[in-house]
Amino acid sequence: MSNFAFLKSEWPPLHEAAIKAEALACTDARTACFQARRGLELLVHWLYKYDEKLRLPYQDNLSALIHEPTFKQIAGEAVFNKPFPHDAAMSCASCHQADAVFVDHKVHDIGTGGFFETKTLVNANFNAPYFHDGRFDTFDEVVGYFDKHYDLGLSGAERADLVAYLETIGDADEPTTRNSVQAEVDELSAFVSVLDVAIPARDTAVILQAIDSVGAEWREIGERFPDRRDTSIEGGIGERLKARASVRGLVLTLRQVAMAAEAGDFTQATRLYAEYGTLVTAATPQLKAAEQWSLFNPEVHRRHFAALAKLAALGK
Ligand code: HEC
Repeated sequence: MSNFAFLKSEWPPLHEAAIKAEALACTDARTACFQARRGLELLVHWLYKYDEKLRLPYQDNLSALIHEPTFKQIAGEAVFNKPFPHDAAMSCASCHQADAVFVDHKVHDIGTGGFFETKTLVNANFNAPYFHDGRFDTFDEVVGYFDKHYDLGLSGAERADLVAYLETIGDADEPTTRNSVQAEVDELSAFVSVLDVAIPARDTAVILQAIDSVGAEWREIGERFPDRRDTSIEGGIGERLKARASVRGLVLTLRQVAMAAEAGDFTQATRLYAEYGTLVTAATPQLKAAEQWSLFNPEVHRRHFAALAKLAALGK
């Protein structure tokens, strides 16, 4: 009996990934991890498709999707709206009303030493220290205070989600934590290693799926090194073009691994996969050499999107 039978009727593709992950958990952990990640990917894409509160980021790889502020805030938003255990008429949202810049225009005694007006949470990231007497420096402390004062019994995860939510509404414009070239390369190496097992096992379905996902992620990474057409970025054009070329080489080689597997030539697939490994090792320093002129650099990222916005405005 599977733990995931309940998924079958509503989400067949998710069900398929989940039961594969489950079946392989003890015998082939790496493929199980791959299937689990695939399930997560399907689930996150599904959420983005049907939840209109989620704002699709510029890149749609898994890491970008789960770091998108609107995504991170969903869990915290639920805690924010949840009725307090000892007074169901109260919640964070009952005083900080989301449709009224997070205030209710009332004064309350929340145990901070008298009656005070509910403060807005918009832009609150820049308003520390918090409360009328500035007694707290961080949202974590504020949340800890409410948790204790109203005996909310929040778990560590709920507190963290709530803090992430406050940070999001506290500054919706700030970019999220940027990944680095090294972080992306590490993640993809872990991800692609499913081929270490799938190629010898001649598991063509897994090989093709893995190459599809990893290839797409590489293409996204390549796009983060703007070419000549992007005039908002100066310098490093040689480095950027080299980085793009090395990413193209990787994607091409992966594609050839897939083609060899599809043709049933697993000796060739093994050889090409080893070549891919060598290419990644050679490409990493080239990507790093161009990193400062890429969208991995927040300043470049900002200028790039400012230029795009200007172009869009001209088009209107
Ligand atoms: C009964 C109404 C009420 C409830 C419920 C409430 N707040 Fe507040 N909140 C206030 C008031 C009033 C202040 C200002 C207190 C002061 O200045 O001493 C405040 C201040 C804050 C601040 C500091 C803002 C600043 O700029 O100083 C944050 C952050 C905050 N609340 C978050 C929350 C969260 C998170 C919850 C739910 C766990 C919550 N509040 C529940 C009324 C409320």
